Amino acid sequence: MIEQKTKPLEVRSIGSGLRRVDGVEKVTGRATYAAEQDSDDGGGEALHLWLVTSTIAKGRVLQVQAEHALAHPGVVDVVDHTTAPRLAETDNGELAILQNADVGFRGQIVALVLAESSEAAREGAALVDVDYDATPHEAEFREDNATYRPSVVNPSMETDTDQGDVDAALREADVVIGQTYSTPYEHNNPLEPHATVAWWGELDGRPMLSMFDSTQGVHGVVQPLATMWGLEPEQVRVRAPYVGGGFGSKGEAHAHVMAAALAARTTNGRPVRLAVTRQQMFQLTGYRTATISRFRLGARPDGTLTAIEHSVLEQTSKVREFAEQTASPTRMMYAAPNRRTTHRLAQLDVAVPSWMRAPGEMPGMFAHEVAMDELAVACGVDPIVLRERNEPDLDPETGKPYNNRRLLDCLHRGAERFGWETRPRDARAQADGDWWVGTGVASATYPAMKMPGNAARVRSLDQGRYAVAIGSVDIGTGARTVLTQIAADALGVEVEAIDLAIADSLLPSASVAGGSSGTSSWGSAIVAAAQRFRADHGNWPDPGVETTASAADSPADEKYAFHSFGAVFAEARVNRWTGEVRVPRLLGVYSVGRVINPVTAHSQFVGALVMGLSAGLFEESYRDPRFGHFLTQDLASYHVASHADVLDVDAEWLEESDELLTPMGSRGIGEIGIVGTAAAVLNATHHATGIRRRSMPLTPDQFLETPDAERP
Ligand code: MOS
Repeated sequence: MIEQKTKPLEVRSIGSGLRRVDGVEKVTGRATYAAEQDSDDGGGEALHLWLVTSTIAKGRVLQVQAEHALAHPGVVDVVDHTTAPRLAETDNGELAILQNADVGFRGQIVALVLAESSEAAREGAALVDVDYDATPHEAEFREDNATYRPSVVNPSMETDTDQGDVDAALREADVVIGQTYSTPYEHNNPLEPHATVAWWGELDGRPMLSMFDSTQGVHGVVQPLATMWGLEPEQVRVRAPYVGGGFGSKGEAHAHVMAAALAARTTNGRPVRLAVTRQQMFQLTGYRTATISRFRLGARPDGTLTAIEHSVLEQTSKVREFAEQTASPTRMMYAAPNRRTTHRLAQLDVAVPSWMRAPGEMPGMFAHEVAMDELAVACGVDPIVLRERNEPDLDPETGKPYNNRRLLDCLHRGAERFGWETRPRDARAQADGDWWVGTGVASATYPAMKMPGNAARVRSLDQGRYAVAIGSVDIGTGARTVLTQIAADALGVEVEAIDLAIADSLLPSASVAGGSSGTSSWGSAIVAAAQRFRADHGNWPDPGVETTASAADSPADEKYAFHSFGAVFAEARVNRWTGEVRVPRLLGVYSVGRVINPVTAHSQFVGALVMGLSAGLFEESYRDPRFGHFLTQDLASYHVASHADVLDVDAEWLEESDELLTPMGSRGIGEIGIVGTAAAVLNATHHATGIRRRSMPLTPDQFLETPDAERP
């Protein structure tokens, strides 16, 4: 493999709205998702796997009584911690299931039922009796138990930062906003639930584990499985040809993937099929921690910030640590010489939290952007003018120049399109019948990342065609389509001349479809491989020659602070008698580098805006601390915005190209659309009603006009 210095591209297909290359497969039902796959190595019909999960939050399994389950005619086997294969390495407490009798949270996998049909497996699981020795657990996150200081926050950021003298600056500040903001537990809920088909075979006399898995990164699944089973990476193959969304919940392997691997190890080569249920996803496949953000902003009378303090409280699981980086955007968003951020966690006997679309930025910017709105009101300054006054010249966190900070351009363009200039200055100034009407704004930001460890392969075929391969996954975002466009431009051919292969860990290594980094990372590798190929073989190569290459590091990578920016505008209508909140208009304007495909990009932005709207108005998981699990565990009790909730939502982007980050000039667009969106909606409800809320979701009860309701 070669490291290749890449040059900017001659852009032809990039920027055009090429229709999804896999669109026909998807709409005709020919796209096969993980649960629909079969072994292509033989081994017979797949056995169906059902998970038995714990009904206590902490303690030990005394005995798994399998007789009744085994008496079911369809059940083949029941595997528990006494019979499960032993793993070579068990450091990852989430994945190291069935290795001992310990129970670390309610909903943890305690036994596996294998059967000839899905129905028999499910019935068998219900017939398994598990005896426990329960011990007291702690599953309630409170301000007073969030005292643990993690050594880093996700993925490897500093836990605390402290610049200048925040306390002195706050003492001297003319205006101080000191408030606490909170966000609830949330669950990712991609349309396709998690699923895995696994089987064991042999490769050159060594054991070989093969899988189809619904994942955001095939190499990211190979890695922990190989380590934990004591295998070399080439002894594990993972494929994910089609994935129905993830929002981060498929960014890393969760325990069910190990359950499928363990079960398949016991079947003498028969494949095992596991479809996780929607209900099980609420305990097993990750969620966003609830957060409490204590903010203190100090400012001059005109709103110029002198101090920013953001103290975060949130929770993690004792089974495996995950510390959401909620204060990370506060470190770089606005200018202020004195700034401090901290993260403290409650370590609980609960399911393992994980990534959910814009971990960190989403809850953190919710708090920051509501606090900024409060500061604007306190200073009598327009919220957009307030942001103009706090625009930094250099990144306040690193002191580096920004690659391309266009927050104000986004705010100004959005204001123009949204009609901001006619907005009444005062809250509670507009009504339409029984509805109070208002508008709000919030900023958005997301780091622009390019991941290491990506490579791509280019091979010439007959008749001027090329095979281009990289192990990246298209989780529904349009990656297959945009990578085809990037490859075509890099090779100087039409998109029809590209045969793209992805989603297989046998292909060159690819980083996760996460952190809004996929297109930047994989696209840069494809451009590097294509340019190397053309340098070595020219523009009319003989068929059958190939090159594999990675993008070389660029000197710019260290020189600049790479971020994308955006501005979200919302109109809210709040019914004065029922408290219902409707959002008739939602607009996001973004600066994200060059947009590779306006059709798939628009879909990403609008989808993320809807997800932010959904968070602002509806989404909340409720954990009962007495039992330790989430009671909301379906789409009836956990409401995700549906068509009737979504009115006029639109997004646009600034024309630009950012070749400091990638040769395509693009940054990334998966996550920024959810950042700030709930804050814009909340700020609009304040402008409509004069009632200031500081938590989401904005349920109707919070706006009821009863005599004892909070009034402006
Ligand atoms: Mo996203 S939460 O980085 O998959």
